[in-house]
Amino acid sequence: MMRTLVMVKPDGVQRGLVGEVIGRLERKGLKIAALKFMHLGKDRAEKLYSVHKERKFYASLIKFVTGGPVCAIAVEGPSAITLVRNLMGATFGTEAAPGTIRGDFGASRSYNLVHGSDSPESAARELPILFDSSDFVDYKVLGAPWVYDEAEDK
Ligand code: RTP
Ligand code: MG
Repeated sequence: MMRTLVMVKPDGVQRGLVGEVIGRLERKGLKIAALKFMHLGKDRAEKLYSVHKERKFYASLIKFVTGGPVCAIAVEGPSAITLVRNLMGATFGTEAAPGTIRGDFGASRSYNLVHGSDSPESAARELPILFDSSDFVDYKVLGAPWVYDEAEDK
């Protein structure tokens, strides 16, 4: 089963959008497998964004994501990575399409409300940075057969 990391960033938390983000994930039909509210801290932030270490926005990105609490959500479901990225919208609120989280609520090129893993490899690398295996809750979403195509791996 595909899992991905969603994280409501400090700007999303401070703007009261945690419920909005979780609500959109739920309404899409995605399953919440684990959930945490916490300060990311410098170590975890640097691990999470290590791919951007050489970029000129790296220092400000680390400052931004450690500037307040975040809400980390492990999301599960067929095509979860693509579904989440589509719900988030393009990286910058200035460019994201209306109807997406960033398009509906973002107006900035650095404060962009949510993070979502961009590939299965990223998800596999990122999830253990924020979650232990004991954080995952095993249960069946009873409505799942009404969300996904029958042929899809459940
Ligand atoms: P994310 O990793 O947070 O889900 O965002 P993303 O894939 O859409 O964008 P990515 O290219 O991975 O960039 C990571 C985060 O770095 C900040 N950023 N700032 N000022 C800039 O030019 C710039 N570019 C990227 C954003 O917070 C972005 O989400
Ligand atoms: Mg990214």
